[in-house]
Amino acid sequence: MKNWYLIILAIFIISCQVNSVENSEAVGEEGWLKGTNEEKMEEVAHQLGGFSRTMVEVSYRYSELYWAGMDENWGYADHQVEHIIEALEDGVKRRPVRSASAESFMKETIPNFEEIIAKKDKDAFLKGFTVLTSACNACHAKEGESYITIQTPEIRTSPVRF
Ligand code: HEC
Repeated sequence: MKNWYLIILAIFIISCQVNSVENSEAVGEEGWLKGTNEEKMEEVAHQLGGFSRTMVEVSYRYSELYWAGMDENWGYADHQVEHIIEALEDGVKRRPVRSASAESFMKETIPNFEEIIAKKDKDAFLKGFTVLTSACNACHAKEGESYITIQTPEIRTSPVRF
């Protein structure tokens, strides 16, 4: 076949056009997500937020965890610890620079606290909660955020009752 190179050229041009259409199509509500695929991914990554976003979730769950223990609602306590782990795992994926400081919290503090919950003993829980709180603050110190000092919650905002 003489014109094989023309066929290859045509395929190349068509594939470039398909690619550029894919790249430029705005998506999402009223097309808020626009630009090339790379720009869209950057925007989505930005929308997911960094470690501060992770900490807002961890802080909520820490508080819920405390009131779960006060209520001796061990199922809810377990649930909150599971989600603290998940939030931190996702957080260090988005901000790998934080992962070294998270290591002892994830590998020691959390597993130790899970064992305490399994005992279903409120006094042990309260002692363990103080250790957990110190570990939150230790990481803040390591990360140069020691002005964020965590203390055992005093006011109950949780709508969950047992
Ligand atoms: C991996 C280390 C690490 C651990 C463990 C950690 N934190 Fe943090 N925390 C940080 C860093 C870093 C920031 C500042 C994040 C930023 O602004 O980018 C922060 C910020 C916060 C904030 C302020 C969030 C905001 O922006 O409003 C709260 C509240 C908080 N942490 C609560 C906790 C609690 C509660 C625990 C323990 C259950 C905890 N943190 C454990 C590293 C950690």
